[in-house]
Amino acid sequence: MASTPLSLSPPRGMRDFYPEAMRVRNAVFDAWRGAAARFGFEEYDACVVENLELLQRKAGEEIVDQIYAFRDKSGRNLALRPEMTPTLARLVAARRQALALPLKWHCIAQCFRYERATRGRKREHYQWNLDILGEPSVAAENEIVGAAVCALDALGLERSAYRVHVSSRALVGELLDRLEVPPAHHPAVFLALDKLGKLEEPKIRALLSDAGLDASAIARVFELLNVASLDDAEALLGRRTPAAARLAALFEDAEPAGYQEVLTFDIRVVRGLAYYTGIVFEGFDTARDFRAIFGGGRYDNLLADVGGTSLTGVGLGFGDVVIAELLAARGRMPAAAAERDTAVGFMDVAQRRAALRLAARLRAEGRSVDLALAPEKARSFFARAGKQGFREAVYLGPDDLRNGTARIKDLRNRTERPLALD
Ligand code: HAM
Repeated sequence: MASTPLSLSPPRGMRDFYPEAMRVRNAVFDAWRGAAARFGFEEYDACVVENLELLQRKAGEEIVDQIYAFRDKSGRNLALRPEMTPTLARLVAARRQALALPLKWHCIAQCFRYERATRGRKREHYQWNLDILGEPSVAAENEIVGAAVCALDALGLERSAYRVHVSSRALVGELLDRLEVPPAHHPAVFLALDKLGKLEEPKIRALLSDAGLDASAIARVFELLNVASLDDAEALLGRRTPAAARLAALFEDAEPAGYQEVLTFDIRVVRGLAYYTGIVFEGFDTARDFRAIFGGGRYDNLLADVGGTSLTGVGLGFGDVVIAELLAARGRMPAAAAERDTAVGFMDVAQRRAALRLAARLRAEGRSVDLALAPEKARSFFARAGKQGFREAVYLGPDDLRNGTARIKDLRNRTERPLALD
């Protein structure tokens, strides 16, 4: 019986990385690692497979429904991590006493979420995570946002092309108190605010009503949206509250740190994840054609919640999907050229050993060399080397062996120079 042919596509929402896609991915990773190094973050990593219980307890609520969970052969409940933050909390809680604070860690984590795969959203993505633990002041937020801006600079995204939208859950909490929305309803309001622009307004009103808010409270929640600046917030509060002061301090830091022009107050940013407690931020393209480039904020209770002692943290997640789409749309895709210096080819098996020896020598000098795997006609060798973007090419024929010198051709300016073969 004939079996049906296997699909050659990856599972829905998953990605394959052919070499050209891999070059783009590496360019993004290089920008992330470069920015982390410049800002003094240490790299860590952990296994992609995590205990389901940790994730169910500590991943943002929205994410819990999207977890890829499975049971191993011994009946353990495991999952592919949907985000890195619960794992980071576990790592830090396990070594809490031995770690010098504040700690600044980063990693590039592959994450899996069973989401509806649309533009900007896959079921698997790489996420740069930057976190500072143990620093209560906004100096930590400033370093995190500054590093994200540094990575975007390295990727060639102009400052005018995006904005970092910043708000504070603590500030929104104070505003809701002022508007006499009871604290018990604040989490529902955060969730509803996060849905603005994603759901239509009647649906958001319905969410709030389902959460127990009456019509007048819902109307007061929508009044929040008139708060267009930190000054507006302070006017409504009647004074500079602690949360407003922290946001003001971040705006002050942004000036000497050099990213003031991209920072903008936005009351609608609350973030979908439950664990944030203070300042929250999200990077968006200026035209708002794409989903968030990155997002993060301060979380005060996560470590205590995974069983450690309490420790404040602030961090961000910056995915590889949206930034690649945005760079492509702006014609800023990182150069997709292969990085190989020299192609070595030969006419006949009689020159193969000499070609091997030459390639070994050039490689020992630190060059990246592509050695032909079989004899080839000169014309097809040079055509191939040109097309594959090599800088130089050497082709060995019987005369070269007899003379003990070959010619190395510069494929950019078509000049040649002699190369001794021994
Ligand atoms: P998040 O907002 O869920 O936060 O994700 C952060 C970023 O990861 C998003 O802005 C986006 O760039 C990318 N991302 C998330 N889901 C997907 C997806 N399905 N496909 C493509 N890209 C995606 C967090 O995960 C927090 N744990 C970040 C954090 C770290 N907060 C503090 N430290």
